[in-house]
Amino acid sequence: MSEIPLSARARAITDSITLAITARAQTMKAQGVDVVSLAAGEPDFASPDAVREAGIKAIRDGQTRYTAATGMPDVRAAGASWLSRVFGLNYAAGDVIVTAGAKPALMLGLMAICGDGDRVLLPAPFWPSYVDIVKLALGVPVIVPAVPEQDFVHAGAQIVRAARDAKAKGIVLNYPNNPSGAVPTRAQVEELVAAALEAGLWIVSDEIYARLIYDGREHFSPARCSGAAERVLVVNGGTKSHSMTGWRIGFLAGPRHVVDAAGRIQSQAIGNACTISQRAVLAVCNESDDAELRARLRAFDERRRWVVQAVNQIPGLTLATPHGAFYALIDARPVCRRLGYDDVELAERLLSDAKVALIPGGPFAIPGFIRLSYAASMKELEEGVRRIAAFLS
Ligand SMILES: Cc1ncc(COP(=O)(O)O)c(C=O)c1O
Repeated sequence: MSEIPLSARARAITDSITLAITARAQTMKAQGVDVVSLAAGEPDFASPDAVREAGIKAIRDGQTRYTAATGMPDVRAAGASWLSRVFGLNYAAGDVIVTAGAKPALMLGLMAICGDGDRVLLPAPFWPSYVDIVKLALGVPVIVPAVPEQDFVHAGAQIVRAARDAKAKGIVLNYPNNPSGAVPTRAQVEELVAAALEAGLWIVSDEIYARLIYDGREHFSPARCSGAAERVLVVNGGTKSHSMTGWRIGFLAGPRHVVDAAGRIQSQAIGNACTISQRAVLAVCNESDDAELRARLRAFDERRRWVVQAVNQIPGLTLATPHGAFYALIDARPVCRRLGYDDVELAERLLSDAKVALIPGGPFAIPGFIRLSYAASMKELEEGVRRIAAFLS
């Protein structure tokens, strides 16, 4: 029987590179190969006790039924208060919906505001899934080239120019940034937002790393900028700060008519975010003592500092200090030139020969760089960096 082709949309979607490399490293490990994986974007801590207990209690209490598609009313209200208390945002419960993670929040938000070939700017470097999520929303991703010489933060004029050239309708901002760790100052965020507003763009602000910031820097949400509230969709949650990767829970906040539309899409596409996880995320929203979070941050910070000095000692590699998230974006361009590899081949060889898994920069639209995740133990980091140095020498 002749094969009926898949949809154009299905054919346009690629596998997540991070998940693919992590899976390959896991397969090698299962085969008995001693691989150090510094690839995954997943904290190596367990979910906090309060989160786990809340989930267990929900099951015991029989909270296992459907909820409203937009989320349980008290969870929406708690999400709104959390966004206000922790991030200085001004949302009512009705402006926030509960989603099955940040990824679906991005998907629903983008589906609500773009389609039919609308162009969406992606300032590089960016999380590779944005390309596929924009395509799934029937938009067209437009890459704004990376600016490593500006510490990875674009100037307003660069955004205005890119928006005009592409006739763009939206932009996805992600600070703290995966993969660069960039955390712009308040003035830089205001400049970016003013540029996006001047160009008439929707702004989708992925703030999933907003609580993982070092060096006394602060997160300033684009939604706090003057005149931005009607144009910004905020994506946030406890995925990274509270090690909730497997719970699949997050929030989308923004103008009421947009989140209502996103809720309708969720009602048909997903139903509702997992009821148990909704109860569990309340422990993040209502957390009154952030001592445990600060302890996790200290651990990440110690690893970050160690990685920065260790990587910068390897000839041919340079690492500008990341100020947020848990990634180190290493400039390997001199090494690539010397070895005659591109970043994808370099990552391949590091995995097959040195047995250390890293992600090439190409899919993040920053070729010649490689991403190391320091959401790993000091022991793994030391061994991983030792292997990289030995391979390159
Ligand atoms: C920038 C960014 N946004 C969103 C996500 C996904 O978050 P979630 O697991 O809540 O869907 C990730 C995960 O790696 C990420 O790096």
